[in-house]
Amino acid sequence: MSAAKKVIRVAVNGYGVIGKRVADAVAMQDDMRLAGVADVVSDWRARVAISRGMPLFGAAPENAEAMHTAGLAVAGTLEDLLGLSDVVVDCTPKKVAARNVEIYRRRGVKFIVEGGEKHSVTGHSFVAEANYASAVGREATRVVSCNTTSIVRTLSALKRAGLLRKARGTLLRRATDPWESHEGGIMNTLVPEQEIPSHQGPDAQSVDRDLDVITMAVKVPETLAHLHYWSVELTRAASKEEVLAAFRSSTRIMLIRYSDGLPALNAVKELMSDCGRSRADLYEVALWEDMLKVQGNELFYAYMVDNQAIVIPETIDAIRALARAEIDGSASIARTNAALGIGDVAQTERRLAASATASGSTVRAG
Ligand SMILES: NC(=O)c1ccc[n+]([C@@H]2O[C@H](COP(=O)([O-])OP(=O)(O)OC[C@H]3O[C@@H](n4cnc5c(N)ncnc54)[C@H](O)[C@@H]3O)[C@@H](O)[C@H]2O)c1
Repeated sequence: MSAAKKVIRVAVNGYGVIGKRVADAVAMQDDMRLAGVADVVSDWRARVAISRGMPLFGAAPENAEAMHTAGLAVAGTLEDLLGLSDVVVDCTPKKVAARNVEIYRRRGVKFIVEGGEKHSVTGHSFVAEANYASAVGREATRVVSCNTTSIVRTLSALKRAGLLRKARGTLLRRATDPWESHEGGIMNTLVPEQEIPSHQGPDAQSVDRDLDVITMAVKVPETLAHLHYWSVELTRAASKEEVLAAFRSSTRIMLIRYSDGLPALNAVKELMSDCGRSRADLYEVALWEDMLKVQGNELFYAYMVDNQAIVIPETIDAIRALARAEIDGSASIARTNAALGIGDVAQTERRLAASATASGSTVRAG
């Protein structure tokens, strides 16, 4: 049920990989207005924000001054932007947001931090399909990291179907983001994380403490996306169709098939690009349906996580929850999905598969 119709004024602090996507996504919601973006840089990134019609603010007075000197039409400082906002989404690098929280509290502006910060920064960690209701009206939440979001989405789907006992996953993590791969990352090697469990399993428990989940991780020399392999003990022997039905209950899991010419991360990204997704972003967990195997009460599957995109719809839902603009999580999810085109690709795929089947092709319908 919708609360009173009110446009939520949203600030984005930190216009980087996540911030620029959040800013675009906010601008696409009919119940939100982007009050502006703040950053410390005065280069092409700030110019792009202005060229896209976004009011630009300096994170601190000296940043606003530098923007002014660089000839940018700067609208003020972060403090000014907060005065125009109901909710601020902090997309600054890891640990910077934790320091900004004091400013948000002092200004009485609700705030969202991203997955680089610890759970303790807000005391609440968010994945829309798992715990939207507990974020409604809160002062703050943390949208968990890309990997953790994918884990909670998939395991929650199995849990809702009464199928989940425990899950063990191995994560192949992209080394760095594409735009900054000249600065870091690894080449010609794989780097196993020393600690088992890696932090993503315990992090998933910050959203749902009942999840019995252990993760291991290895850094791999590519930048496109993460790849997860999972081995799950089910509560009982189940059929493959039951498991697929459980995953289909999530609008943010997209079942994909090798047999549709999608055997690797790059092919899935190309599909997103060809379907007209902004920045070729894959908001869904892309899970291989034809690879998935059930053996008695054991389940095995793999999926792709677009680390730059998966947290964007969650962040939009988190804004609505904090602002109390929508108390029904499924209504917010549907609204966000419609604005971002989530579900459209799967529908297009099904339509194409159906028409190909009708015309005698061997492509299978989804
Ligand atoms: N990149 C990913 O794949 C990814 C995925 C999920 C979550 N996250 C999380 O999202 C958050 C942001 O990560 P990112 O990858 O977008 O970082 P990023 O480095 O791409 O962008 C950060 C932006 O913040 C700006 N900035 C730096 N210091 C600032 C300050 N004091 N005030 C205002 N702006 C400042 C930078 O100039 C940059 O534009 C982190 O918590 C990260 O862990 C990142």
